[in-house]
Amino acid sequence: MPLDSLLASIPPGHPDEALVRQVNLEQLPAHVAIIMDGNGRWAAQRHLPRVEGHRNGIQSVRDTVETAARLGCQVLTLYAFSIENWKRPLTEVSTLMSLLKRYLRSELDTLLSNDIRFRVIGRAHELSPDVREELDRAVTRTADRTGMIFNLALNYGGRAELVDAVREALRTGMTPDDLDEARFAGLLSTAGQPDPDLLIRTSGEMRVSNFLLWQIAYSEIYVTDTLWPDFRRRHLLEAVLAYQKRDRRYGGIKDPHAVIGAP
Ligand code: FPP
Repeated sequence: MPLDSLLASIPPGHPDEALVRQVNLEQLPAHVAIIMDGNGRWAAQRHLPRVEGHRNGIQSVRDTVETAARLGCQVLTLYAFSIENWKRPLTEVSTLMSLLKRYLRSELDTLLSNDIRFRVIGRAHELSPDVREELDRAVTRTADRTGMIFNLALNYGGRAELVDAVREALRTGMTPDDLDEARFAGLLSTAGQPDPDLLIRTSGEMRVSNFLLWQIAYSEIYVTDTLWPDFRRRHLLEAVLAYQKRDRRYGGIKDPHAVIGAP
């Protein structure tokens, strides 16, 4: 039972326990996607170099991945490096890549023990061979896991993903009649996965930043002022609880019984 596993990881009497008990397991977001933002500002507030924000963001990644898996989410997608992030100073880019390699090496056992299947979305083939090697290892080692899928978006851009999907359709000889929304979704990097129900962005920015443009068509958006390196289990639980109070209509009419979690 996922809730038991999450509760077992929380010391008795800890404030997060009360939050977990409020979660309606029948109405969990199947897919949570997160734009991790605010690392630079977190570092600047402490008069530290920007990369210290990224370094401290790793603990937030660990906490979030474990919490989402123990809660019973089917898919978690984290936006770690966008195509646009190559414009950052070389030292920052190489630190991010080193942190990623170190994270993959140190977290593999935790991913395996939590039954997590690790995947990469984005143009991973353009990453350096040493990074690809670590990524391939984590993907291969976790390929038979049947719990939560953890997508890491790397060298990812939503528009690039759409262009790649169209290219794939043309390359494989699809004709206009072959394409509909379901078939197009099958050409994306998230093929076979549910679309994000909940899109979280940290650090208060109200932007989508070229993330999962097709997939977030009906996602509930939750923006928190918390900066990513401060984001912990509690913040994810608060986001899920806020999501469960939303009224999802998918373009239909308002129905009081459609409130997520309504009796
Ligand atoms: C945005 O903050 C964050 C990123 C571009 C990178 C996110 C990376 C990590 C959390 C660490 C590595 C990840 C893994 C999975 C090992 P920003 O730098 O744009 O912050 P700012 O807007 O305050 O400047």
